[in-house]
Amino acid sequence: MTLLTEALRGASADDRDLYRPVLFRPAARQDRAALEDLLKRETHLTVFDHLHGQLMELVKALDPSMKYSSEELDAAARSHLGTTASEDYGAWVHYPWSNRLVHLLDEAEFAMVRTDRNRNKITSEEQSVLASKKVGVIGLSVGQSVALTMAQERSFGELRLADFDTLELSNLNRIRSGVHQLGLSKVVNTAREIAEIDPYLKVVCFTEGISEANIDRFLSDGGKLDLLIEECDSVAVKIIARQRAKALRIPVVMDTSDRGLIDVERFDLEPDRPILHGLVDHLDLALAAEAKTNEQKLPFVVPIIGLETMSKRMKASMLEIESTVGTWPQLATSVVLGGALVADIHRRIALGQFTSSGRWFVDSEELLRDAEPLQSKTHDAFDAPKALDLPTMQALAERCALVGASIEWVQDDALALVEAAMQAPSAGNLQPWKFLLHEGRLYVFHDGALGDSALDSGRLIPAVDMGACLENMSLKASELGLSIALQAYPIEGDHRLVAVITVSRSTPVKDPLANMIGMRCTNRRKGDARSMPLGPMKEMRSVVLDVDGCDAHFLTHIDHMRSMAETIAKAERIRVLNPIGHHELFEKEMRWSTSDAARTRDGLDLPTMELKLTEEVGFRVAADRKAMDLLALWDAGRAFMKMTREAIASSSAIVLISCTSNDPRSLLDAGRAVERLWLKATEMGLAATPCSAPILLSHHVRHGQGSGLQRTEKDALLQLFGEVQAAFGIGDREPIFLLRLSYAEAPSARSLRRPLQSFLFSHQNIPA
Ligand SMILES: Cc1cc2nc3c(=O)[nH]c(=O)nc-3n(C[C@H](O)[C@H](O)[C@H](O)COP(=O)(O)O)c2cc1C
Repeated sequence: MTLLTEALRGASADDRDLYRPVLFRPAARQDRAALEDLLKRETHLTVFDHLHGQLMELVKALDPSMKYSSEELDAAARSHLGTTASEDYGAWVHYPWSNRLVHLLDEAEFAMVRTDRNRNKITSEEQSVLASKKVGVIGLSVGQSVALTMAQERSFGELRLADFDTLELSNLNRIRSGVHQLGLSKVVNTAREIAEIDPYLKVVCFTEGISEANIDRFLSDGGKLDLLIEECDSVAVKIIARQRAKALRIPVVMDTSDRGLIDVERFDLEPDRPILHGLVDHLDLALAAEAKTNEQKLPFVVPIIGLETMSKRMKASMLEIESTVGTWPQLATSVVLGGALVADIHRRIALGQFTSSGRWFVDSEELLRDAEPLQSKTHDAFDAPKALDLPTMQALAERCALVGASIEWVQDDALALVEAAMQAPSAGNLQPWKFLLHEGRLYVFHDGALGDSALDSGRLIPAVDMGACLENMSLKASELGLSIALQAYPIEGDHRLVAVITVSRSTPVKDPLANMIGMRCTNRRKGDARSMPLGPMKEMRSVVLDVDGCDAHFLTHIDHMRSMAETIAKAERIRVLNPIGHHELFEKEMRWSTSDAARTRDGLDLPTMELKLTEEVGFRVAADRKAMDLLALWDAGRAFMKMTREAIASSSAIVLISCTSNDPRSLLDAGRAVERLWLKATEMGLAATPCSAPILLSHHVRHGQGSGLQRTEKDALLQLFGEVQAAFGIGDREPIFLLRLSYAEAPSARSLRRPLQSFLFSHQNIPA
C-alpha cells in the first residue's frame, strides 16, 4: 500500500446525511456548557465571529433615519449589547459538515438585518406573512435555484425538499455547488446551503424522493403546504403530485427551463381545474406510473412540454438525443431564471397578489433581441410552374401532331383508365396528373404546379410518376379489350403533355398485374428481415425486362444492404437538412392531421409513415425549419439516419430499376418498369417502400443544375451516386429508382386520392 493510498483510506468524508446546523445560545447555561464542550472536543473547529458588524447593521436597521459617524455607530453597536458580554450574545451556530462555528445575531434580529434590503419591495408585514408559509420543492435542479432564491428572500417559514438523486459532475453546469459535494444527496446539498445562508430557516429533507407512498406525508405532515413547486423529471410523479395537491387544494408551480416556460395551477382557487391545464386529460393517467421506456413516457411528456412552443435549440437537441447528446440540455441561465421566476410567483401567490392559472413564457431571446431579428436561411426562390387549366390543356392538345384515328371513347372505358391511372404512386402523393378527353383522344398531362420539385431539375420524378400512371392505364386497357397506341411527349421540349392515347377495339387480354393496381401501395412497415428466395427476384426482374431497355438489380446480402442503407440514409439526411428538401417534405407533402389529409386527399398522411411514437415526435420536431437549420449548422442530424438503417435492416432486399439512357422517353419507360415491378411485388405479398433519395438527388446534380444545393451537398451526392453504381454493378446504365422490399404486415393506413373530377376534363361531359 502506498503512502497516498494509506492516507486516503484514513481520511473520512464528512457525514453525508448531516444538514441541520446546531445552535448554542450561551445565555442559557446548558447551551454554554455544550458549546464549551464542543470547543474542547473539536480541535479543528474554525471559528468566525463577526457579531460586531452584524450589530452595527442592526442598529442602522432599527432606525434608518439616524445618521451615524463610524465612531458613533461603533458605540451604538456596543451599547446595544447592554451588560451582556459579546460572546454570550445571540447564537453560535455549528455546521458539523464543515466544522465551522459562526457567531450570529439570534433569529429575530438576524432576520431583520438579513431582510433589511428587501424593504419595501417586501414590507415587514409581508415578510412576516411569508415567514408563516410552507413550501414544498420536488426535484432539485431548477428546484435548487428556486429554494436558494426563496431562502435568500426569506419567503418561507418551512421548506420541504424532495429528490432521490445525488450530485454528479455533469450537474454542475447548472446546480450551484462545489466539487467536494459530488456524490452528496441533492437535497442535503441544498439544505446545507440554505443553512449556511440562514440557520434559522426550517428545512425538511425527503432524500428518498417522492412516490405514491410518501406524497401525502410530503404535502401534509407538519401542516399542509401553501405551495408545491414541481421540478422533477418523472412523469408519474408530476401526475401523482398534482392529483394529490389538487385534492388538498394546494397550488402548483413549475418552470421548464426552456424559453422561461412557467406553469401555474391554482388548485386552491379552482378546485375543479384539470391537472396540467387539461393537456393530459385524453390519456390514461394510471399508465404514467408504469411508463418506463421513452415510448411509454412520450404521450405524457409531449403535451406537458409542448412541442410547438419549444425553443429551436431544444427541438434540434431533441433530435440529437442518444446520437450526439446524452439527454436534454439545460443551462444555468435558464435554471437561474426559473429559480427567480418561481420564487417571484410564490411570493406573489403567498401575498395574495397573483391569482391566475396558466402557462407563460419569459423568453429572454424573444424579449431582448436585436431590432432586426436574424433570419433563418431562406432557400432559393423556386418558381413553381403555373397550374394547368382547361384552356391550356386544350391549346396543348390542339398543338400536337395527331397520331392515328381513335374509336369514339366509351365513357366508362375512359373513366376506368383514369381510375387505374390515379392509383399510381407519385412522389409525396402529389398526384401530378391530369387527363383531357378531346376529340377521340385521351391526353395525359403532368401538372408541374402539383408535382414539381425544386431539387429535380433533371425531371426524373415526373418521369417515374407519369410512367407508373401510364403503365396502369395500359394494363387496364388490355383488360378492357382496348388496344392502345401511345405517343409520348408529342410536343418536343414541352413536358406538360406527357402522352396522347388513341384506342381501338381488340380481344381483352388479362395481365395478372392489372389485378394488383388497386392493391399496390407504399408499405413503410418494418419487415421480418427474412432472406428472399431467388424465385420472386426472377419474377420481378422478368416484368421489368418486358419494358425496353429496363432492368432490375437486387441486393440481398446483409452486408451489402447495410452499406446501401448508409448511402440512402446519407442522401435522406441531405434532403431533410436542405431548406428546399425540408420545405418540400414537411410543408408541401406532409399532412399532419387526418382532417388535413381528408380535406386535400393528397400528400403524405402521417399514419402512412408507420412511425413509432418516438419517431413521430422526432418527425414533428424536425418539421421546424429553424431547428433543422441549427442541425445543418452543427453538421448534426444523424438521428434521421437511424430510421433508415432500421427500416433497411428489417427488409429482405433492395432493388434498383435501371435503364439505358437519360432521355425523357427512356425515363418515362423506366417509370413504367418501376410500376410493373411494384405490382409484381404486391402480387407476391411483398411490401415495397421507395428509398430513392441518392438517385433522385444526384440526378438533379448530374443531369440538372443542382440548384438549391451547396457545393458540399453536391459533392456528397455525387459520391453517393458512385456508391449506388458500384454496389449494384450497373456500369454506365442510368439508375432510376430504389425500393426496399420486405415481408411485412399490411400497412396501417393507405394514401388517399383526389376525386376523379379534379383530374379528368372533357368536352364529352365526363364524368357523367
Ligand atoms: C418518384 C417517387 C418517389 C418517392 N419517394 C419516396 C420516398 O423517398 N420515401 C417514401 O417513403 N416514399 C416515397 N414514394 C412513395 C410515395 O410517397 C407514394 O407512392 C405515395 O404516397 C402514394 O402512396 P401509395 O404508393 O401507397 O399509393 C415515392 C414515390 C414516387 C413515385
